[in-house]
Amino acid sequence: MNPRPLASRIALVTGASSGIGAATALALAAAGASVALVARRADRLDELAARVRAAGGEALVLPADLLDEHEAQRVVREAEAHYGRLDILVNNAGVMYLEPIETADLGRWRRMLELNVLSLIASTQAALPGMRARHGGHVVNVASTAGRQANPGAGGYSATKWGVVGFSESLRREVCKDNIRVSVIEPGVVATELREHIAHAPTQQAINNWAEGMRQLQGADVANAILFCVSQPEHVNINEILMRPTDQER
Ligand SMILES: NC(=O)c1ccc[n+]([C@@H]2O[C@H](COP(=O)([O-])OP(=O)(O)OC[C@H]3O[C@@H](n4cnc5c(N)ncnc54)[C@H](OP(=O)(O)O)[C@@H]3O)[C@@H](O)[C@H]2O)c1
Repeated sequence: MNPRPLASRIALVTGASSGIGAATALALAAAGASVALVARRADRLDELAARVRAAGGEALVLPADLLDEHEAQRVVREAEAHYGRLDILVNNAGVMYLEPIETADLGRWRRMLELNVLSLIASTQAALPGMRARHGGHVVNVASTAGRQANPGAGGYSATKWGVVGFSESLRREVCKDNIRVSVIEPGVVATELREHIAHAPTQQAINNWAEGMRQLQGADVANAILFCVSQPEHVNINEILMRPTDQER
């Protein structure tokens, strides 16, 4: 098997400062891709870029707050300007604000919708003209089992991830004749920082208890799935990967 299936490919990973995004950037770089790293915490991105370079890879740090959709578009343009093109866009940045619907803080949910859905759409929009012009590219959108299975307390989050799944299938159908691939990754419970930002304490406690009762996925497990998608021959599009810890029931 080719150990560097992504040699000479250019990838941009959003949410690369922790969790799934950091693991994905490392996996893509180890497979030979040059990686543009996007998130707000520049210090974390610098550390990750240093790890990539120490392993012989190439990385570009692009700090940005993707709540601003113009920033989501800017980072794509900057990666293209720096490397000359963009082959793989991994839309991974996201937040999970779980709380009951009746009392949900709508300002918080608006920010979640804007990051998880609108910003993902904006970065995709920015990447499409170059991918179309080069007749090739791959957009990988990180959704969730919450985009397939609705649970109490996850109404706002599920609305965003259901949105990502629907958007991705529309996108796939719009661009497949341009040789652009679209994949959706739908992980179950992954051990990352994601749950730390849940403001509703009882909900946070409940999901932490539930997650800690399982052998949770690691960021690297999801990164492997993403690497599998983007390493396929050009005529193969893995449309969707739904993955859970073995002992996650729902
Ligand atoms: N963990 C799970 O159980 C799980 C399951 C299914 C799906 N997912 C999805 O996986 C994706 C990655 O999450 P994770 O689990 O790896 O959590 P994480 O460790 O909290 O990572 C989230 C990433 O998003 C970035 N981010 C958050 N707000 C941002 C903003 N305004 N602008 C730019 N970047 C921002 C964070 O970077 P900064 O804070 O540095 O900006 C961080 O790099 C999310 O879309 C999440 O919904 C996670």
